[in-house]
Amino acid sequence: MRPEVAVIGLGRIGLPLAVSFADRGLRVLGIDKDAARLQAVRDAQMPFQEPGAQDALDRVHAAGTLAVSDRVADAAAADHIVITLGTPSFSHVEIDISDIRSALDDLLGHLRPGHTIVLRSTIAPGTTDFVAGYLEKHRGFHIGEDVFVAHAPERIAAGHFMEEIRTLPCIVGGVGPESGERVGSLFEVFGAPIVQTTAVQAELAKIWTNILRYANFALPNLLMMDCEQYGANVFDVIELINRDYPRGGIASPGLTAGTCLRKDFAFSEERSNAPGMLLAVSRVNESVPLFLVEGMKRRLGSLNGRKIAVLGLAFKGNTDDERDSLAHKLVRLLERELADVAVHDPRVATPTPPFAETVSGADAIVVAANHDEFLGGEPLHEIVALAGGDALVVDPWNCFGAAQIFAYVAELSAVTNGRVPLP
Ligand SMILES: NC(=O)c1ccc[n+]([C@@H]2O[C@H](COP(=O)([O-])OP(=O)(O)OC[C@H]3O[C@@H](n4cnc5c(N)ncnc54)[C@H](O)[C@@H]3O)[C@@H](O)[C@H]2O)c1
Repeated sequence: MRPEVAVIGLGRIGLPLAVSFADRGLRVLGIDKDAARLQAVRDAQMPFQEPGAQDALDRVHAAGTLAVSDRVADAAAADHIVITLGTPSFSHVEIDISDIRSALDDLLGHLRPGHTIVLRSTIAPGTTDFVAGYLEKHRGFHIGEDVFVAHAPERIAAGHFMEEIRTLPCIVGGVGPESGERVGSLFEVFGAPIVQTTAVQAELAKIWTNILRYANFALPNLLMMDCEQYGANVFDVIELINRDYPRGGIASPGLTAGTCLRKDFAFSEERSNAPGMLLAVSRVNESVPLFLVEGMKRRLGSLNGRKIAVLGLAFKGNTDDERDSLAHKLVRLLERELADVAVHDPRVATPTPPFAETVSGADAIVVAANHDEFLGGEPLHEIVALAGGDALVVDPWNCFGAAQIFAYVAELSAVTNGRVPLP
């Protein structure tokens, strides 16, 4: 089978994308260096949770439209080569494009006129022009005339891929005269509007989409910490800000992280005109685990030898993705206090004990990820029964609906209007 599209990097973005192309009838070659990942695709087994992706993979498997390989050079068999490799940031406030460089080096000798290279990964401003320049320098191509290069950033949120690939406007920033048109035609298969722009504007639009969210969540997180200082209730203040006010609203607090939000601001900081502004945003979000630990210490005293139950290891609710999760930082900080930490997460691949075992006899219970399993009265009811009225509940997401960051179980029972009986 000669592929029409090759997708390099079958991760959380690349695999659903490859499956989505193949599900639209295109012949797709998916490439990854991870043998287990390739075997999972051959076995038609999604290696991570993404709603709807398993059904699509089953269809694609039956249709035989998705093949896999561990050789990046094999991508050259397709006219369209889509790069979905990871782009972390160095601690030097700088994008790490080593995976993209390595893929380009593997491809260089195999590229021919007519090829289209699509950068789907999130990249620092200027990276698309760098890639175009790299191909020009090493192979003498005229980008936009014989070989085509564009940035078509992925803006879906994990857990919503299959619906958002059909609906979110697809931004395309091409280099040279024809690149944008070719990449736009490729992505038209998903039926979402195609929005043509320049490469650097596409890069800026993507990272600032994430920066906006990262900064948006830093504000309620900072307000949460300020409220503790003033003895105020952050949920009451948020309600006062937002109630019937027509000019936008403030978000709710939580543990704000994840592989995308956490690194993308660094791509902007590379050449920022206000150096430090987004680093401060990052510092606020990164401070939340320490704020929660200090809040527990203020109420319980030393955490040495106290049982602290952490609910949720994922970086946000309803995902199995633990990468760059602040729950891990919270656990590390608790361990540094010599607390006895017990963790439960019903969704992640990391094995954890059951909910009841985790909260049983706990001195404090912290909701670190707002999974649906933790919402409402039922889990709180179990906590009341198994941890007792003296246990401290720490619920920055307000999963239990009591609108208190820190509250003893007995108090919570009162504020939930008796829905949760006292032990
Ligand atoms: N995860 C998200 O929700 C999300 C959303 C929007 C954008 N993005 C961006 O999409 C890009 C990919 O993110 P991801 O979460 O899918 O990353 P990921 O780490 O899940 O996937 C990367 C894949 O590439 C493979 N790989 C690495 N080096 C390789 C090489 N040299 N040859 C072949 N395969 C190689 C890895 O084995 C892995 O499977 C990043 O730039 C990210 O910022 C991610």
